[in-house]
Amino acid sequence: MSTPLIWFYFLFFKFSDQVLSITPQTQEQVDTLRNVSTHYETVLWQPVSNEYISTQVQVHLYVPGNSSVTVKAILQTHGITHKVLLANPNVLTEMQMKNDSTDPRSGSTFYERYHTLEEIYDWINRTAQDNPRTVKAILIGSSYEKRPLYVLKLSFNDRPNRKAMWIDCGIHAREWISPAFCLWFVHHSLSFYQQNSEITRILDSMDVYVLPVMNPDGYKYTWTARRWWRKNRSISKSGFCVGVDLNRNFDVDWVKGSSQNPCEEINCGPFPESEPEAQAVANFLRRHKDTVQLYITIHSYSQMFIFPYSYTFDQAENHNDLLEMVQEAAQRIKRYYRNTYTYGPGAATLYPCSGGSDDWAYKLGIKYSFTFELQDRGEYGFLLPPSHISGACNEALLAVKTIAVKVLEKT
Ligand code: ARG
Ligand code: ZN
Repeated sequence: MSTPLIWFYFLFFKFSDQVLSITPQTQEQVDTLRNVSTHYETVLWQPVSNEYISTQVQVHLYVPGNSSVTVKAILQTHGITHKVLLANPNVLTEMQMKNDSTDPRSGSTFYERYHTLEEIYDWINRTAQDNPRTVKAILIGSSYEKRPLYVLKLSFNDRPNRKAMWIDCGIHAREWISPAFCLWFVHHSLSFYQQNSEITRILDSMDVYVLPVMNPDGYKYTWTARRWWRKNRSISKSGFCVGVDLNRNFDVDWVKGSSQNPCEEINCGPFPESEPEAQAVANFLRRHKDTVQLYITIHSYSQMFIFPYSYTFDQAENHNDLLEMVQEAAQRIKRYYRNTYTYGPGAATLYPCSGGSDDWAYKLGIKYSFTFELQDRGEYGFLLPPSHISGACNEALLAVKTIAVKVLEKT
């Protein structure tokens, strides 16, 4: 653009926000990117923290319109090329928040939209009330800001020696597809019990505990203040920064691969289980560890099935079983939906880090423990449009069913 044109642009338009994809080629480029992501108003979508930036690792960086010119100039001076991943994330954000349930032409169901925290609480109440014989809402604790943490217990019969599985969603606030999946899963269970053979088999032999939003304060915050918030909302002792990464706050080899700096995205908090949300989940699982055989925690994005360990490169004792389960899940998804999921132990497949709920549950004795990273692989990232909810959830559902059936066969 010529100079007068640029001025014209500045005066009459605003540069729009963008999400850039950048793959640094040299150490110098890595350092520059780390610098940009800490010193300019940007948000790292991927990797989660700038210490994980390295050569040949694809970085997804959210750049607000007002830092766009500066950031791009810095990239250019260092010979760093970028692709625009999302040219207009604001439009996508609006699409995610639009609740067009009143529009009869929209054609999408309740489960194909994202919901506010209040709507999810209403849904929890309604679901328990409408299914008094099969669904119970159990209060397992409350959040830092004193919001209730409800677990839905699905129980389709009362045979003795029933086993159980646990699914939690929404540990990380900005991963909106995650709570959407918990709602999807409960709806599927209630609608297809005695219709679909796999879900029937699972529900006949297991109770299912579903925690739809483990981090309600953070989730609320992403709807009202900052869409890219990840942590909970607890205020650090110094009062300077807010938020602990709940998936670093569990008691496994605490602090390695996480950060004690409360200002960081992967801050593990002052001590293990310092956060009421992590403590509530840990207490509940400790009380139910004799029945719970399968633990699944739902995240996004990157399409991955992760199993222990993440805090060490050592192999889990039943590594081969775990591998076989996720491999089968990935193969079935490929066959039915033509979509690719990668899989493996956390440290080697994703990154080493401690304090995660999956490793903690595993060490508690829940021998089948998984982290799912749902769609997508960065085409929309956290801004997965509502029209993709059904696809993302059906894939994850197939994986849950595949793994749960295998757990039943093993135990
Ligand atoms: N994206 C997730 C996180 O960073 C992955 C968790 C995998 N498990 C683990 N224990 N790190 O929290
Ligand atoms: Zn996550």
